[in-house]
Amino acid sequence: MTTAIAPANIAFIKYWGMRDAEQTLPYNGSLSMNLDACLTTTSVLFDPALESDHVTLTLYAQPPKVAVGRPLERVVAHLDRMRALAGVTTRARVTSSNNFPADAGIASSAAAFAALTLAGVSALGLAMDERTLSRLTRRSGSGSASRSIPTGYVEWHNGDDLTSFAESIAPPEYWDLADVVAVVDTQAKKIGSAENHHLAVTSPYFGVRLEGIQQRLDAARTAIMQRDLTLLGTTMEADAVSMHLVCMTQSPPSFYWNAGTMAVIHAVRAWREQGLEAYFTIDAGPNVHVICASGDRFIVQERLEALPEVQFTLVNRVGHGARLVHVND
Ligand code: DP6
Repeated sequence: MTTAIAPANIAFIKYWGMRDAEQTLPYNGSLSMNLDACLTTTSVLFDPALESDHVTLTLYAQPPKVAVGRPLERVVAHLDRMRALAGVTTRARVTSSNNFPADAGIASSAAAFAALTLAGVSALGLAMDERTLSRLTRRSGSGSASRSIPTGYVEWHNGDDLTSFAESIAPPEYWDLADVVAVVDTQAKKIGSAENHHLAVTSPYFGVRLEGIQQRLDAARTAIMQRDLTLLGTTMEADAVSMHLVCMTQSPPSFYWNAGTMAVIHAVRAWREQGLEAYFTIDAGPNVHVICASGDRFIVQERLEALPEVQFTLVNRVGHGARLVHVND
């Protein structure tokens, strides 16, 4: 049995829009940081005695559940990719658990598919460099999972199957940033990323988004290299707004933000006016990720928790990528 741990990640420049569903190729490159406190642990055992794959998921503070339906199909399809590479048909027992609340609106699929890929590949004895591992993780259908393989700050390149991989641009200790997640709604998102990745192209602003993305990617990368929070923050806010603008103008439109989202955005902007340097970004849900210097993370947490719209917060620093924790021969 092989066990791997992988982090969730938050994108500063978002992957939004899928160019090729077969290979999970994006329209644009993206850039993220791994979250050190939001982890998935997954064990995989290939067992010749099994007639079918068996998957058990344990979400934070919930009893284990046997996966069925679409979640099971996605895991089986990904195990099939790994089995094809290894030339075997052996079925697997997979157990996976999250250490963060599933209702926090943090893409748990990124951590889950990164951990599944690393554990599965290693259980099959496949030798794979990090680039190949991130490409295989990308093909799981959860493209952002490719960014949970390398460590620290990570860029996922646009390209074809061979060239669209994720790589680290800086380790966690290069720059001590924090992501304080403000949870304003614990309902599961109603429209998943997958559907909107396909609808994005129907927005008249999708082309506008893509026109500006290279400049934002370059600015975000430079900001990380120079540890320039002002440049990173303004760039990440512009990119998040651009992603949500596309969502709100696609057909049919989709609105992830709610009143709580707006309350946090306004609060963060007001704190900045007063000298607390923090910036917002939002994924495919209403909750807000507030990025700040790690030294400011507890003051940001305190202020967020004082807002009536915020139910709870999760504090993260920059995390390592996927790693093996236990290998049994
Ligand atoms: C808004 O298809 O990778 O988080 O829906 O969780 O599988 P899942 O994610 P994925 O889309 C991610 C979209 C995003 C932006 C990003 O992380 O780049």
